[in-house]
Amino acid sequence: MRPAPTVVEGVRVLRLPDAAAVAAAAAAALIDAIYQAQAQGRDPVIGVATGDTPQATYARVTAAVESGCLDPARAWIVALDEYVGLGRDDPRRYRHELLRKVVEPWGVDPTRLLVPEVDSADLTEAAHVFEERLAAIGGVDLQLLGIGRNGHVGFNEPGSDPEQGTRLVRLAPSTRAANAVHFRSVDEVPQEAVSQGLATILRARRLLLLATGPQKAAAVAAALGPEADGPVPASVIRSHPHVTVVLDHDAARLLR
Ligand code: PGA
Repeated sequence: MRPAPTVVEGVRVLRLPDAAAVAAAAAAALIDAIYQAQAQGRDPVIGVATGDTPQATYARVTAAVESGCLDPARAWIVALDEYVGLGRDDPRRYRHELLRKVVEPWGVDPTRLLVPEVDSADLTEAAHVFEERLAAIGGVDLQLLGIGRNGHVGFNEPGSDPEQGTRLVRLAPSTRAANAVHFRSVDEVPQEAVSQGLATILRARRLLLLATGPQKAAAVAAALGPEADGPVPASVIRSHPHVTVVLDHDAARLLR
């Protein structure tokens, strides 16, 4: 039987049995967003998240491309954030991760990958240019989001102002600890990043937040439940008119 979405705090929530089902649902939404834009004669603009959660989703979209069902060559791929302080060729840069996992396997023109610039001496100006380029390509059709254990979206850590746009941010210690698996030690994890702001994220026409695993249950409950300790950044999605949260059983565990 097809699982029915429920509505929690005005947000459509789809609770699925496991991470594979989450990836299947997310890939279907992403493919649909690409088809819809193409049907309207527009180049699709897909906002992608990095991190582990969406990788199975990207692999499913790749399978659709390889089967010949989907041709996103002229899509725009927009990143949420980029580390500051890694060398230009460092494979852990999100630009490189997205080239490997999304742009190349989907056959997207690499000049259509938009990532915040982090090599400039003036990161405030660079963040401004990112916002301008994003506006110039027409804004994001569908933005995929993960959620941090502390409730961050992008690298908007707790305390982020919902009105802010793309800017230089400092990573929370818990974020650096969680991301240390991709580095030799936590000390190597950059202290800073340039991240789309919450206001930037909310301008996407549709949001799709994915969470899997028990380590995300508390953040999901904080984002969609009563705000006992003040709002977590992800709770801003409640104010978006077209948002779906897709959870596996473990991530939904603490949600009423
Ligand atoms: P993850 O990261 O998908 O690797 O858990 C999500 C996030 O921190 O936003």
